[in-house]
Amino acid sequence: MDVREELSILIRSRQPLISLVTGEEERAGDLLRALAEELNHRELFFWNTVSGFRRNGKGGNPLEEGRMDPLTALQRIEGYKEDALFVLEDFHPYFEEPVVVRQLRNLLYTLRSSRKTVVLLSPLGKLPPELRDDVPQVFLPLPGYANLKELLDSVCEGRDVKSNLNREAEEKLVKSALGLSESQARGVFVQSILKHKVLDQSALQLVLSEKQKIIKKEEILEFFPSREKISDIGGLDNLKDWLKKRDKAFSRRAKDYGLPNPKGILIIGVQGTGKSLTAKATSALWRLPLLRMDLGKVFGSLVGESEERMRKALLLAETISPCILWIDEIDKAFASVTSAGDSGTSARVFGTFLTWLQEKESPVFVIATGNDISNLPPELMRKGRFDEIFFVDLPTYDERMEIFRVHLSRVRPVIRDYDIALLAGETEGYSGAEIEQAIINAMYNAFDDEEREFTTADVVQGAREVVPIIKLMHERIEKLRAWAEERTRKANRIQR
Ligand SMILES: Nc1ncnc2c1ncn2[C@@H]1O[C@H](COP(=O)(O)OP(=O)(O)OP(=O)(O)O)[C@@H](O)[C@H]1O
Ligand SMILES: [Mg+2]
Repeated sequence: MDVREELSILIRSRQPLISLVTGEEERAGDLLRALAEELNHRELFFWNTVSGFRRNGKGGNPLEEGRMDPLTALQRIEGYKEDALFVLEDFHPYFEEPVVVRQLRNLLYTLRSSRKTVVLLSPLGKLPPELRDDVPQVFLPLPGYANLKELLDSVCEGRDVKSNLNREAEEKLVKSALGLSESQARGVFVQSILKHKVLDQSALQLVLSEKQKIIKKEEILEFFPSREKISDIGGLDNLKDWLKKRDKAFSRRAKDYGLPNPKGILIIGVQGTGKSLTAKATSALWRLPLLRMDLGKVFGSLVGESEERMRKALLLAETISPCILWIDEIDKAFASVTSAGDSGTSARVFGTFLTWLQEKESPVFVIATGNDISNLPPELMRKGRFDEIFFVDLPTYDERMEIFRVHLSRVRPVIRDYDIALLAGETEGYSGAEIEQAIINAMYNAFDDEEREFTTADVVQGAREVVPIIKLMHERIEKLRAWAEERTRKANRIQR
């Protein structure tokens, strides 16, 4: 159902208050004007505190113009005799005022028997708790492909500009603008035409750089340029095979074959075992952009805005899809969901995320990583959220050999000189990160010792200087293993 239909049904079913969430006031205005027409030319008034009521369409204005406080505005609406649609712009700041909230609640009852509807227009999805259950929220999505195509055509037509793009290139340009608001898209289209007098390839560049700017501004998402390859991961063969098998999952051919888009995976495991590394390497393996979501920032923002920011970030990710959305250390962020004390904000943000995850059909592949399961709400683990939950344990003997190979060959072109089997034997219980540290220690020691080449013995010594996490957290890791045994798929392949 599109937004217009959704609003139309709500209005016709005499819903007294509706919250329409969008930052695109102009576009929302157009939509509501069309809607008022459609509903037997119902009267339409726009209100904001600076201009008072502005009547749209018909002449004259039975309601007052000029500066007006929100309480008076609501009282005028209550007293107005005709059927009408009232659009209140930027109303959210007044949700802080008890009298205003009370008057809105009154309207819930008094307008029910009338054909008057109030639309609260705001870029923020926040509602006071007193209204949350009674005011349906409608989100105006960013313009879709068809809207943007129309916009591009009208921009070109209006300026009598010829397009030098063939159909395919034009399609690509419109597609790349997905995720921009109408005015942002118009801005870049016009800008590129003004610059070059024709519409050509350079427009695409402009759109992309505009999009980068928006992502920067949102702060929650970050394009994460990844240099890691799948071959940089030592071990974790089960996990790697799973990922390799889905290499072409987002291709046209997979779609034609009838395969559903993979949803995502949750990777739980011991610290320093390659979980984050896997997220980064998957981006290279699948040749998809990696977007990292900073959940700390979602929660860190003003309490009421957190939900809105989460919603926006997910939408933005969808417009960039196909892509990988990486949520690192998900356990830390959602720890507060279970703990009381933030008036339910984290629970709601978490709910927004879960619903999205469950219903998502867009090719956004989620990789969530974490290590403390006691912090993770059980809903996250329910079927249908992720395709698979992987558990990453400390590396086996064979895996440690592989990890040594990966890291030694990074610093030395020939690794034949090192006794890898011996090193793997000496580092039982070490994580990949600790093995890496052992090699770095060895290099420092040898370099400090007259800059000589480091040897297998140096690495053994280097490993002794590392206190592996298993020593410090033995019990916690055992508990984690026991938990994972029944609930997860093993990322490590146990040989022999
Ligand atoms: N299996 C592995 N193969 C190769 N290198 C590894 C492996 N595991 C860890 N490392 C090395 O350790 C570094 C840290 O690993 P990573 O950040 O992936 O750990 P993590 O599992 O995400 O840990 P945390 O739970 O603390 O976030 C990697 O950048 C890599 O250099
Ligand atoms: Mg990590």
